[in-house]
This record gives sequence, C-alpha cells and structure tokens, in this order.
Amino acid sequence: MSRDEQYEELLSNISAMVADENDWISVMATAVCELHHTFDFFNWTGIYRVTEPGVLKIGPYQGTHGCLTIPFDKGVCGASARSKKTQLVPDVSKRSDHIACSATTQSEIVIPICTPDGTLIGVLDVDSDELNAFDDTDISGLEKITTFLGVHYASIKA
Ligand code: SME
Repeated sequence: MSRDEQYEELLSNISAMVADENDWISVMATAVCELHHTFDFFNWTGIYRVTEPGVLKIGPYQGTHGCLTIPFDKGVCGASARSKKTQLVPDVSKRSDHIACSATTQSEIVIPICTPDGTLIGVLDVDSDELNAFDDTDISGLEKITTFLGVHYASIKA
C-alpha cells in the first residue's frame, strides 16, 4: 500500500471510530494512537491544545515525555500556532526555534487544527528519529486528518 493509500485508510478508520463520539479528549486520543501506530517512522505523535490565548498545552500523545507548555512564540509548534500553517522541518538541528523534547528527534512536522471558521484549537505534532522523514504526502495526508478533526470538534461543541 502506498503512503497516500495508508493516509486514506487512516482517515476512514479514524472517522468511523469517532463518528458517534462527542468527547473531544477521546477523539484526540484515538486519532493520535491510530496515527502513531500506522507509521514506523512516527516516533512521537501528539496534540498540543490552545488552552488560553497564546498558550499550547500537551494533550494526548504517544512516545516519550513531551514538554507540557509551549507558548505561541516558542518552538515549531508555536510557529504553526501563530501562522496557522503547517511547519515541515527536515532537519531539526538547522531550525533555531526547535524545542528538543527528545535527543533522538531528527525531523518534525506540525499541522494546525482549526475549526471550519478558522479558529485554532490546537496543533498536531509528529517527530521522527529519521532525518527528512516527512514529505508532501505527509503534509497532504495529515492536513486531511486535522481538517477532519477541526470539523468534528466544531460538531461536538455546536
Ligand atoms: N519540537 C516541538 C516541541 C514539542 S516536542 O517535540 C514533543 C517544537 O519545537 O515545538
């Protein structure tokens, strides 16, 4: 199966699993677990939530210890939250604002999670121990999943 097809299957599985779930923590935990265990090169997978203006706090994650709080002006997660844009970091040693939670991380991707009206509710952060692990397929696949999550969050809170 190609990586594109794996992402399609993932989205279909996650959306089926959470279809009747109206608890947002359960939804986040399920999505993170499915993502983390689909790809061997995902060594840390988690969601940071916007808990107050300018602040991200750790949510459900898989992997080793993640930093608890990331202000919007710090880290790759903060850059994604500020810009509401995906951040692809092929080599974290070359990204000055990268916050190293794990010494083994070599590349990273962070995707914003927004509701359909554009409100940022969090970011999805995936770290890999491989250099240059993520490409356009991951951007596209992960953005489809975060779009789904934003829509589902809005339907829960409506
Ligand atoms: N690397 C992230 C911090 C979070 S951890 O990697 C889990 C960043 O630079 O924002």
